[in-house]
Amino acid sequence: MSIRLHAHSPLLNEAFCFGVATASFQIEGGIEHREPCNWDVFCQQPGAIADQSDGAVACDHFHRWKEDFALIKSLGVDAYRMSISWPRVMDANGQLKQEGVNYYIEQLDWLNANNIKPFITLYHWDLPQHIEENGGWLNRETAYLYEQYVDAITQAFGDRVYSYATFNEPFCSAYLGYELGIHAPGITGTKNGRTAGHHLLLAHGLGMAVLRKNAPNALCGIVLNITPTYPASDSAEDIAAAKMADQILNQWLFQPVLAGSYPEAVLTEPEGAAPPVEEGDLALISTPIDFLGINYYTREVYQSAEGELYQAVPEKTLPLTDMGWEVFPQGLTDVLVDLHQRYTLPPLYITENGAAMPDTLQNGEVMDTDRAEYIQTHLQAVENAMQQGVDIRGYFAWSLLDNFEWAEGYVKRFGIVYVDYQTQQRTLKYSGRCYQALLTERRQSERQEQRA
Ligand code: FCB
Repeated sequence: MSIRLHAHSPLLNEAFCFGVATASFQIEGGIEHREPCNWDVFCQQPGAIADQSDGAVACDHFHRWKEDFALIKSLGVDAYRMSISWPRVMDANGQLKQEGVNYYIEQLDWLNANNIKPFITLYHWDLPQHIEENGGWLNRETAYLYEQYVDAITQAFGDRVYSYATFNEPFCSAYLGYELGIHAPGITGTKNGRTAGHHLLLAHGLGMAVLRKNAPNALCGIVLNITPTYPASDSAEDIAAAKMADQILNQWLFQPVLAGSYPEAVLTEPEGAAPPVEEGDLALISTPIDFLGINYYTREVYQSAEGELYQAVPEKTLPLTDMGWEVFPQGLTDVLVDLHQRYTLPPLYITENGAAMPDTLQNGEVMDTDRAEYIQTHLQAVENAMQQGVDIRGYFAWSLLDNFEWAEGYVKRFGIVYVDYQTQQRTLKYSGRCYQALLTERRQSERQEQRA
């Protein structure tokens, strides 16, 4: 097993951007150098995190980032996608915290000096706790606080950033955090989920306007996750259930951003849970973006059920990752082509794709051929979508490092680099070596072409 693409693959074109991705709370630690956030508090709730862990140390990236950046460079990637911790760079009075700002500026300068494009996510779920205590994303005011944060931090960064994403997966913040309660802050209820979702989208719109002003040369957009929905059978009922799940779980966030409206089902089902839209919100939310980031991991199958709009089929029929997610590369092609047919899309980047696997470190090696195969087949799926006319400009492996996998704690490993949490030692896994080999080969063939 290796990660290989055929010689004429459009992914081998030098304009196609390969990268690795991380997020602040999942890797940084260094909590004594920042304000508390919603996830610090959520982790303390009994039963919230599978292994009762938290983000206090994580991969200790706060202290080890230079070592980690050297690893990133050794992979030969074009870009690094990372997120900014809002509570690291801003205090409760809305003033920038210079130590935190300098920490990121040093990183940005390092990346630029080493020819690695910084793809910055401005919000990957770590909300300052004082804002959470004021209602968090249930409070419309949070969108305006976010706007101020974006204004201050992007001025401080100047022109160091290649690409900004306003948000990572508002679906997870809203649905998992405020509707199912399995992510911070652990609140439940459909109305809460839809309210939080709307305020996150509003903040995205407000953030885009600030980015246009402060970062006119950056590639700006948002990152949305998508899990394509398939019917359990050919019956009209199951097909309708899968469509309904798609409307409520996926198009809930895609449609407002890309077409300036909510799906009908989101406005009407269930009664009283419609997003709190005010005049002008949808125009802001749908302001044009330069790129759309897509995070893809798996599919979901739905059936109809008495008294419910849809029901996920619990039995899985395909090979599973360690998360219990089905491995289904075809779903990535399907969903990209579907989005392309549904909307007028900006260029797409696959901003996350990868798999948790039951890795073991043996004799200093992790032979994760399963993960290498996952990446290989999903790169092929990206290529297939490109061949059907979808404009895709890049692919980021999730993740650079094994890290704090939210409610799953440290048990699930997504890295192409293994982290021993006792010693903080990093070991490039087999999949990482394959990724590196692919990128090295690509560079070599580019050089040969230039010479020819
Ligand atoms: C995504 C998140 C990312 C990571 C992966 C596995 O939903 O954006 O932080 O946890 O899932």
